[in-house]
Amino acid sequence: MKVNGTHYRSLWWDEDKAALQIIDQRWLPHDFRIQQVDTLQDYADAIVEMRVRGAPLIGATAAYGMALAASIDPSNAHLDKAWEFLDKTRPTAINLRWALNRCRAHLVTLPEDQRAAAALALAHEIADEDVEINRNIGLNGLEIIRKIATGKKDGEPVRILTHCNAGWLATVDWGTATSPIYHAHDAGIPIHVWVDETRPRNQGALTAWELGSHGVPHTYITDNAGGHLMQHGLVDMVIVGTDRTTRRGDVCNKIGTYLKALAAQANKVPFYVALPSPTIDWTVSDGVKEIPIEERSQREVTHVQGLTEAGEISQVQVSPHGTPGGNPAFDVTPNHLVTGLITERGVCAATPEGLEGLFPDLSRI
Ligand code: MRU
Repeated sequence: MKVNGTHYRSLWWDEDKAALQIIDQRWLPHDFRIQQVDTLQDYADAIVEMRVRGAPLIGATAAYGMALAASIDPSNAHLDKAWEFLDKTRPTAINLRWALNRCRAHLVTLPEDQRAAAALALAHEIADEDVEINRNIGLNGLEIIRKIATGKKDGEPVRILTHCNAGWLATVDWGTATSPIYHAHDAGIPIHVWVDETRPRNQGALTAWELGSHGVPHTYITDNAGGHLMQHGLVDMVIVGTDRTTRRGDVCNKIGTYLKALAAQANKVPFYVALPSPTIDWTVSDGVKEIPIEERSQREVTHVQGLTEAGEISQVQVSPHGTPGGNPAFDVTPNHLVTGLITERGVCAATPEGLEGLFPDLSRI
């Protein structure tokens, strides 16, 4: 998508430098910084410190990490080591393991002298595929938004609430939850987006920055405002992303998503999840019991980061000194709270039959 008139992906390969470039998202929305990733440690740091974040982007980054590993030493032993090193960076989003598995499984079938080139080609393929998947999620979600828009008076916007950042920054391009929004906006359908701030990391600020850059009307709200807005008929639909969706359709996403789903059900607001197929974990059924939830640093809760009036990025403490902070980063929304899953192959029910119906080729594990 565009930043100040220039088209960017959230990561790209620089042929001249033979290195991956990322947007260091820790500084957004205040500062747009590009960083080169050179070593395997750089790759791990970028994921752990959330310079890159969002399930699909973590997966694509890991694929380039495997390409670097293959260029240094293409042996099976070294690829296994790189797999393990990158796999432990973040535990919840399944795209990370999906990408690592896909790379390793492909490379070990090749002679060692072909692996470096093949690994880079595969990383490019994974990145390009992600863009295509998200574009199709957008086209499928657009039809849902169009239907809601037809029930409205001329010029009245479709009001969509979203949580976290499931935008182009969280993927390679387009985003998952934002792709239907961008497609609808580009098709001339009036849209207004309620953007949850998404404490503690405030990924909502990234979403607001993206939407603002694309000209989509939006309002930045506290995480606690959604229920109130739904109760007062001010939300037509919710669309969120997902970090891991189980084979029966339970959805693990940024902490607070579950509360939005409960509020949506209580207020009869449709709750949709934008789901790229690499985010489905076919090995898991009960998301609440089986998905590992990342516990992040207390400091993310006890402190907030923002821009001072002097234009500097700064952190301040909001809780009393010595008060412990708890920071589970994700929660699970059970499938019965999900109205539909918007995938690259179409929209389906959040049920085993729904997912297997759209992905018969992938569901046989
Ligand atoms: O901790 P983050 O910022 O990596 O979490 C991101 C999310 O929870 C997104 O909603 C999810 O990855 C879907 S992204 C298309």
